[in-house]
Amino acid sequence: MTQDELKKNVAQAALTYVPEHQIIGVGTGSTANFFIEALATLKAPPYAAVASSEATATRLRAHGIKVVDANTVERLAVYVDGADEIDPQGHMIKGGGGALTREKIVAALADRFICIVDSSKQVSTLGKFPLPVEVIPMARAQIMRQLTALGGQPRWRQGVITDNGNVLIDVAGLEISKPVEMEALITQWPGVVTTGLFAARKADIALVGHPTGVHTQTFA
Ligand code: A5P
Repeated sequence: MTQDELKKNVAQAALTYVPEHQIIGVGTGSTANFFIEALATLKAPPYAAVASSEATATRLRAHGIKVVDANTVERLAVYVDGADEIDPQGHMIKGGGGALTREKIVAALADRFICIVDSSKQVSTLGKFPLPVEVIPMARAQIMRQLTALGGQPRWRQGVITDNGNVLIDVAGLEISKPVEMEALITQWPGVVTTGLFAARKADIALVGHPTGVHTQTFA
């Protein structure tokens, strides 16, 4: 089974968690794209979606799904998105696609975060995937020095500007055994918009694609 087939299977499995005629949050990335395709096949689709990126908003509309502004909703029943890594507690690294800040905003609105991944994303400790950090452009060099002092090897994702007009730094070499603490630490540095650590607001449920089928993990 290919990685794309595993992604399609988890995207399909996530439909079980989509309430009828409500507004849901939709993530960004190749797995989320399969979820959008699956959503479009529903007989009773959600009323609308809040998108975690411009790319996702465009794709949702192309599939006939209405997109609403995050400011118009007080809560979402569910947010469905992929991840770059997920640990056994449901903490994640996200942002490989650069949408981390909006993903975190939409996730914060949701009662339940359903993470859809193929099994290659499961890790015992986060950090092999370089941690994305979104930074206000004038703070880039200073934040890179601070990330180096933390033991990481930061690299500016040159040529990429986020949907929010900021830059991205990818930090390799971090072994993140305390994701909640590291997320809080980096997020408080002036100039950091957010980190790709989704630990304070982690996944509630992971649907993990294996060649043998979709495994469901629930996190306390
Ligand atoms: C987008 O910014 C990311 O957080 C993605 O959700 C994450 O990188 C997973 O992407 P794939 O589903 O493409 O692996």
